[in-house]
Amino acid sequence: EDQAFLDAFQKRIDAEEKIEPNDPMPEGYRRTLVRQIGQHAHSEIVGMLPEGNWITRAPSLRRKAALLAKVQDEGGHGLYLYSAAETLGVSREEMTEELLAGKAKYSSIFNYPTLTWADIGAIGWLVDGAAIMNQIPLCRCSYGPYARAMIRVCKEESFHQRQGYEIMMTLANGTPEQKEMAQDALNRWWWPSLMMFGPHDSDSQHGDQSMRWKIKRFTNDELRQQFVDSTVPQGEFLGLTFPDPNLKWNEERGHYDFGEIDWDEFWRVVKGGGPMNKERLAARQKAWDEGAWVREAALAHAEKRKARAEA
Ligand code: ACO
Repeated sequence: EDQAFLDAFQKRIDAEEKIEPNDPMPEGYRRTLVRQIGQHAHSEIVGMLPEGNWITRAPSLRRKAALLAKVQDEGGHGLYLYSAAETLGVSREEMTEELLAGKAKYSSIFNYPTLTWADIGAIGWLVDGAAIMNQIPLCRCSYGPYARAMIRVCKEESFHQRQGYEIMMTLANGTPEQKEMAQDALNRWWWPSLMMFGPHDSDSQHGDQSMRWKIKRFTNDELRQQFVDSTVPQGEFLGLTFPDPNLKWNEERGHYDFGEIDWDEFWRVVKGGGPMNKERLAARQKAWDEGAWVREAALAHAEKRKARAEA
């Protein structure tokens, strides 16, 4: 790739033009998007598991209907995202095989267990809240298909966030035991939610280049700060406390200060050593194996139709 091509491409990016599937693009731009969109798609699909765990145990029909809809939305998000990645020349089969081989990442957050019903509230409030903070700017990503997919995804995520916060509100205003459950869920999900935004900017391998290409619009640390700033007042409104003694409003900065993430835990979970990594991959492997007959039947059907059309 010569410099003139790279410069011309950067000019299009700087002019806020959307890049579309058939446009010429630097190989690095394509690879970055395949990596990020692929990881994002896997996160949506693996993300169905921790909550799916509670569908049969939701405390009421209303809660069950909402949770079922939310988990289905996540399946849908995964499918749009795989389709967006496919416009860059990878197939869904390839992406899935990479996931199952442990080569493709998915968000660290989905490697934690959902121990009580309150976890469903905390996930909606915090995990979907963090996801929205990260994904709203992706609606302006320079790559057209990814940006467009994000618009609908974000609308659905905001419903997910509200259903989670409403569960938290009900528990926090309930019996002392229910409030305790809500507090315990916040204690366990707070730090992993902050980890969703990725390493510090100084350790973010892809951050600078992705900002230049306008794939990312804000850095990992900027988004994490925005999330803390908007979430802490919501927790205070619930009458709950955050498991961080260093969390404090900083008048001068106009932001909350907060403690340091346990980065050893973060990297351990990212590299496969989290509490639920093995279970999550085993569940995906089982679904893939059990779906083999469907893929084979669909292929055989397509071949039969093709042969008939040619006859
Ligand atoms: N969990 C797992 N891996 C992570 C996480 C995380 N929370 N954060 C960063 N990483 C990985 C990166 O993927 C990268 O690994 P790779 O080189 O093997 O791909 C490495 O850590 C270094 O991080 P960065 O250089 O900062 O990576 P990047 O610029 O891609 O930023 C981010 C990471 C912010 C997650 C970005 O990829 C992104 O915005 N992705 C789209 C959103 C998304 O995937 N959300 C999923 C969770 S939300 C949901 O599904 C409901």
